[in-house]
Amino acid sequence: KAMAILKEFEDKCSTPISKLRQVADAMTVEMHAGLASEGGSKLKMLISYVDNLPTGDEHGLFYALDLGGTNFRVLRVLLGGKEGRVLKQEFTEVSIPPNLMVSTSNELFDFIAAELAKFVATEGEDFHLSPGRQRELGFTFSFPVKQTSINSGNIITWSKGFSIADAVGQDVVSELTKAMERKGVDMRVAALVNDTIGTLAGGKYDNNDVVAAVILGTGTNAAYVERAHAIPKWHGLLPKSGEMVINMEWGNFRSSHLPMTEYDQALDNESLNPGDHIFEKIISGMYLGDIVRRVLLRMAEEAAFFGDTVPPKLRIPLVLRTPDMSAMHHDTSPDLRVVGTKMKDILGITNTSLKTRKVVVELCNIVASRGARLSAAGILGILKKLGKDTIKEGEKQKTVIAMDGGLYEHYTEFSKCLEGTLNELLGEEVAKNIDIIHANDGSGVGAALLAASHSQYPEVEE
Ligand code: BG6
Ligand code: GLC
Repeated sequence: KAMAILKEFEDKCSTPISKLRQVADAMTVEMHAGLASEGGSKLKMLISYVDNLPTGDEHGLFYALDLGGTNFRVLRVLLGGKEGRVLKQEFTEVSIPPNLMVSTSNELFDFIAAELAKFVATEGEDFHLSPGRQRELGFTFSFPVKQTSINSGNIITWSKGFSIADAVGQDVVSELTKAMERKGVDMRVAALVNDTIGTLAGGKYDNNDVVAAVILGTGTNAAYVERAHAIPKWHGLLPKSGEMVINMEWGNFRSSHLPMTEYDQALDNESLNPGDHIFEKIISGMYLGDIVRRVLLRMAEEAAFFGDTVPPKLRIPLVLRTPDMSAMHHDTSPDLRVVGTKMKDILGITNTSLKTRKVVVELCNIVASRGARLSAAGILGILKKLGKDTIKEGEKQKTVIAMDGGLYEHYTEFSKCLEGTLNELLGEEVAKNIDIIHANDGSGVGAALLAASHSQYPEVEE
């Protein structure tokens, strides 16, 4: 019976290449629809107001805040222009207390501003703040925001376990600025960016061929450089560069082609944002472990998979985290010792047989592969939109995608599967031209770079 449950789940999760192509096509279609009009698609295709990516000339001291991944980070960067690049950087990382994720806007932003204040207090003279200058900040805020300028924008919704009702609709920069005033931090927010935009900027700074960025972490999302006149819903001035970076918010993508199971339905129903971010709930780090848990629970309830009683811990939402799932999936010991230990320590299930452990690994594989393969399909959708899914005569320039996030970085089977699937989808010839690079924590530096290019002080060579 347990095997029947596993088999049924596997069938429902299947992602043959033909299905992935349908998903990619649907992604491209939704991209067009989201660019055409406000509310034209589940894909918000948000305008970032970033119409120039870093040039390398940026210089001076800049701060960055990075909120929305597993950890909250504060950093300062001393940029040295063309010659020096990043001369020096320091950062601190703290995890956001879980109660603040569902509190009030003031509580969350006071906490952030207080951490920022502590960090600013440790700034050494070697960071050379020019006399008379106010410190400036790039704020990476990794949630859907309707920007109204490069440094203002209203929160549309929360995701990834955050839910702070009174902040929805508010300008996140003014919320932060008010909190900084309360905490005595004198700093101006020069740029407000999504983590995908930060990663794109940081990636481009290192590699000029970067055209898109993808985050696979707690949540998932992508951003890319669009031609400004391919954005019908943009009524502002045409930027000089002719380009505009778009934050797709692809986590909210959905399509009838997505392989959804009853477990995904239940996970969505019980989440803080039901009906939203369906793609993200099938793919990203916040949820993969919980899908595994839900299938195991069904096997325990209906097939006595772990004996006569259902292990009570299996009923706790989100108790099985994706890093633990990853550790089980990568267990190479002959008796699957890691799986045994995790089952015991996390789920309180002792004495699992080798056969049971193998089933657990198989289950992790099904869930991770589906997520990885769908991510590859999403990337193909972007490449199609950019016309980079085929070889152009005489094309020499590479197409590079900057990736970041804990899932991509630490879940090797996931990233291997993603890259393998993308190559298969593109075919050998095209795949040779497409590179995926890991832009490690690029979004912090990226935000600082964008703060520099939107500084209130005119650029003067020192
Ligand atoms: C980091 C970026 O490297 O990756 C963050 O700097 C981003 O901005 C994060 O949100 C996503 O990863 P995770 O795994 O922490 O959600
Ligand atoms: C969620 C957020 C999005 C962010 C992504 C990755 O999908 O809505 O803004 O980029 O997570 O962190």
